[in-house]
Amino acid sequence: MTDAATRDIVSRLERRRDLPDEELLDLIANPAPELAEELAERAGAVRERIYGNAVYLRGLIEFTNYCENNCFYCGIRRGNQNIERYRLTEERILSCTDRGYALGFRTFVLQGGEDPGFPDERLCELVRTIRERHSDCAVTLSVGERERESYEAFYRAGAERYLLRHETACPAHYRKLHPESMSAEHRYNCLKILKNIGFQVGAGMMIGSPYQTPEDILKDLRFLQDLEPHMVGIGPFIPHKDTPFHDRPAGGLELTLRLLSILRLMMPKLLLPATTALGTIHPTGREMGLRAGANVIMPNLSPTDAREKYMLYDNKICTGEAAEKCFRCLEVRVKSAGCYISVNRGDAPDWTAR
Ligand code: 5AD
Ligand code: FES
Repeated sequence: MTDAATRDIVSRLERRRDLPDEELLDLIANPAPELAEELAERAGAVRERIYGNAVYLRGLIEFTNYCENNCFYCGIRRGNQNIERYRLTEERILSCTDRGYALGFRTFVLQGGEDPGFPDERLCELVRTIRERHSDCAVTLSVGERERESYEAFYRAGAERYLLRHETACPAHYRKLHPESMSAEHRYNCLKILKNIGFQVGAGMMIGSPYQTPEDILKDLRFLQDLEPHMVGIGPFIPHKDTPFHDRPAGGLELTLRLLSILRLMMPKLLLPATTALGTIHPTGREMGLRAGANVIMPNLSPTDAREKYMLYDNKICTGEAAEKCFRCLEVRVKSAGCYISVNRGDAPDWTAR
């Protein structure tokens, strides 16, 4: 592509918030640095128009690493006998939120494996307690696939957001990443139910997961256009030593950055995290993510002894740092990307509570 052709295709993507399949595939597969720069520049401008330079923080509390699932890519899969399993007590979880609140966090994300040790009512009680203690904060749940009734109970308890990455929009690709016991259709259906209940929903996928093709990524973009989630989490796949994919290469930095920009241009109001996985494959990956159009960071608030046991992939960053240290570190990083940390809840612009 010439410089003029690059500018033309990116400006059409910005104006129409879409392109024909062939052109999107070109952007996905084209590693030219000029394209990445043009995409990041336009995407950064769009982000700024909608959100200013605010970056929203989501304090992540990894409260259980027990998981009934056996996803081939994930370090806390049931089949991994090489990890020490833990569940945080309610008391420890609340001390994480208290500490996070003091630092300025106004969103708490309770994330865990699919753990029957936390049945609906236990989670609901926890959500209610956090909402009572910190009424100006949002609570996000990320506990996998459950029944509609469970999701409704979570919403009534005060959880207003839910993260469930779709992982891949291609059912054949989904099959290659998950055991027979799991189904793509069931997962997609959970996302529809969550949206229908009224949650702010986060979907997403790994970039460069084993067997992923550019056509699969195109399907992801079409899937996301159709679902219209409020947030999309994307980060590179990173191998974990005790999984069937231990010898697969990690996903690429440049492709992940291009996709952040493409998503920003296609769905301008999206909440887009610069993920921990992005910060893991490159020392300044998250800053580059912000410059490419991301506007959310999800620092870890888990106690440090839990963090090292919540290894979804190898070499995960920030596993030794206390919450305060990460916060100070991020202030500098966010600033270096031309942004500032917002103390707002950072709700999706079009969302109103039911
Ligand atoms: N590399 C990168 N991301 C991963 N996840 C799970 N395992 C890995 C890995 N090996 C992502 C999945 C999941 C989210 C919580 O973490 O997309 O939905
Ligand atoms: Fe955790 Fe930098 S963000 S140490």
